[in-house]
Amino acid sequence: MTDRILIVDFGSQVTQLIARRVREAGVYCEIHPFNALDDAKLKAFDPKGIILSGGPASVTEIGTPRVPQIAFTQDVPVLGICYGEQAMAAQLGGAVESGHHREFGRAEIEVKEPSALFDGVWKPGDRKPVWMSHGDRVTKLPPGFRVVATSENAPFAAVADEARRFYGVQFHPEVMHTPDGAKLLRNFALNIAGCSGDWTMGAFKQRAIAEIRRQVGKGRVICGLSGGVDSSVVAVLLHEAIGDQLQCVFVDHGLLRLGEAEQVVRMFRDHYNIPLIHRDASDLFLKELAGVIDPEQKRKTIGRLFIDVFEEEAKKVGDAAFLAQGTLYPDVIESVSFTGGPSVTIKSHHNVGGLPARMSLKLVEPLRELFKDEVRVLGRELGMPADMVNRHPFPGPGLAIRIPGDITREKLDLLRQIDAVYLDEIRKSGLYDEVWQAFAVLLPVRTVGVMGDGRTYDQACALRAVTSTDGMTADYYPFPHEFLGRVATRIINEVRGINRVTYDITSKPPGTIEWE
Ligand code: XMP
Repeated sequence: MTDRILIVDFGSQVTQLIARRVREAGVYCEIHPFNALDDAKLKAFDPKGIILSGGPASVTEIGTPRVPQIAFTQDVPVLGICYGEQAMAAQLGGAVESGHHREFGRAEIEVKEPSALFDGVWKPGDRKPVWMSHGDRVTKLPPGFRVVATSENAPFAAVADEARRFYGVQFHPEVMHTPDGAKLLRNFALNIAGCSGDWTMGAFKQRAIAEIRRQVGKGRVICGLSGGVDSSVVAVLLHEAIGDQLQCVFVDHGLLRLGEAEQVVRMFRDHYNIPLIHRDASDLFLKELAGVIDPEQKRKTIGRLFIDVFEEEAKKVGDAAFLAQGTLYPDVIESVSFTGGPSVTIKSHHNVGGLPARMSLKLVEPLRELFKDEVRVLGRELGMPADMVNRHPFPGPGLAIRIPGDITREKLDLLRQIDAVYLDEIRKSGLYDEVWQAFAVLLPVRTVGVMGDGRTYDQACALRAVTSTDGMTADYYPFPHEFLGRVATRIINEVRGINRVTYDITSKPPGTIEWE
């Protein structure tokens, strides 16, 4: 089995980043919520190292999260981060108090003693920037520990019991604002836990192919293609694993960008020679969407139709036993819920979740262990073209949620033209890979303008571009004014029916990335 690190989640906003950093060091890891673990599960996972995440609770209160005590008796190294450090201290006989000085944001620590955690990175006497976010702090060390770094408000900023290989840091090494943090996590995973660091995408690919062959046997697999990165990578990976046992189904809802449907067909049918059914269902989707203006109703209508059409096509394939899906690791991680209550639905996401049960298909989800950027690396490993692998995310309901108000074929055509000009300029300026996502929105507003000697009374559009690491939060992208001016001029000159262009500078939160 591959060397693996267990990350115990206490509910920090940035737990996923710990996993990213560990994987960047070539080590496989999984995140498990503290309350889903018990002694047996922890032992069965057989970790070479355990990392305890931060979290919003306070160790000083009764009934707050702990890791099963067995974590400390397996002769396995443990690294506690922030709340994780405090929980470890409390569980091993130290003491934690509610901080008199809360420390949030950038701080400086001073390295006091050498530690295996700092090897080759920090030495005694160094003063280094780190990112802190805590109210409580450790005030008495458990037996065997000593302080290896301090900060003004956290005398026990880093502690170590080198003999038992237990480490605690009050700061967050997983975030970018701790510039040396990735190196510390690497030290923990490779040098301290002794993982071999051979979890590469090449190795992953070979294992995934073997696993797909084992799971599927001689069965047939259907795979829905959307033109997006995830489903494309799934299709190419499956094709490499099982060849023509794979049947792709592309339900074209008519809500894609300019030329995208043709591109999907060209790429998969012609280039990869993958059996592909292309069903143009745009008439059906447009008919059912006519007059629908409520965003949730749009999403639900599209989701329902998609499943109907997909099922119809899949049934024609006849003997399929499996459905392949591009489920990613962030969809799989169980989140820690402190309230236990359901969270509010902001948007109903478009997915084919109901299908497998309805059609009694088994699921094949070869990307379940990967983060989005790892899927891109896998795509490259599979030899897929860069413009496909680096493509921005595109929502399942497509352009329908970028046209507030009702949707018509004319509006879709108009939006496709605006979007094409915008993306063309972004690509020409070399900015495509700088942004997470960029797109245009057709506004349900007409405004007055003047072109040549005449009055115009045409539609307005908005442009949006954001940076993000996971789509959960986002910042608007600060394009140079001269770039925005050039795009606006081109759109108004080239797209008949548009006479005003605006740029959306809302971050998420409070906005969302898509308009609906
Ligand atoms: P929001 O608008 O919720 O979007 O901030 C976050 C990210 O999710 C994408 N998105 C979707 N993706 N099906 C998808 O596959 C959907 O229904 C859907 N809605 C939004 C959005 O483009 C952004 O990347």
